[in-house]
Amino acid sequence: MKIITVAHQKGGVGKTTLALNLAFYLKDIKRVGIVDTDLQGSVQGLETLLDGITLVSYEALLEGSYPELDIIIIDTPPYLTNRLNDLFSVSDFVLVPTKVSYLDAMALKATMALLQQCQAERPDLKAGIVLNMVKPRTSMNREIKDILDAYPIPTLNTRIHERVSYIRSVIAGGIVQLEDGKAHEEMADLADEIINQI
Ligand SMILES: Nc1ncnc2c1ncn2[C@@H]1O[C@H](COP(=O)(O)OP(=O)(O)OP(=O)(O)O)[C@@H](O)[C@H]1O
Ligand SMILES: [Mg+2]
Repeated sequence: MKIITVAHQKGGVGKTTLALNLAFYLKDIKRVGIVDTDLQGSVQGLETLLDGITLVSYEALLEGSYPELDIIIIDTPPYLTNRLNDLFSVSDFVLVPTKVSYLDAMALKATMALLQQCQAERPDLKAGIVLNMVKPRTSMNREIKDILDAYPIPTLNTRIHERVSYIRSVIAGGIVQLEDGKAHEEMADLADEIINQI
């Protein structure tokens, strides 16, 4: 069983959107669970729409009292909490989404520091930054990529673009259910890039 945690202390960077879409994408090939550690409970609020995905509570995760699963995806809140340390220490991969923005890219520092601390104790913990809500053909993409390249955590090759279909995807059973071939492709690339590392 592998654990993928989606984290970035900044709000609105797409943690919940990507956590849900990864779960929806992977549920056809793996037994997938999702954990909502966000007090806002965005994922929990969608429980009836999580067909084929097991919603695991944070308490059940800690106790190990959940059905047999291949992958657990953990969504986290937009602030630093002690829980993050605990979650990183049980994760196989930490996915850090960020928008193409100076403020979002620079806000990564604290999440990065926490990650590095955990990686010092557990060198097998993998992590990657993913650019989300990317707008095509702007010089900003290169400028932000340069900031991200200075961080110790690699930036994934897959970029998730800004698409209306992602907004809809969370209530539609994931991007896989919508007619948006380009979005399907990038979500498949993101899942493959993560799965190949764990
Ligand atoms: N690739 C995308 N294209 C277009 N809209 C997106 C994309 N990713 C996320 N969004 C939208 O951006 C907003 C923020 O996304 P989301 O709630 O997933 O972020 P979050 O990091 O989980 O936020 P919070 O930290 O507050 O929990 C939502 O309205 C979502 O629909
Ligand atoms: Mg969220």
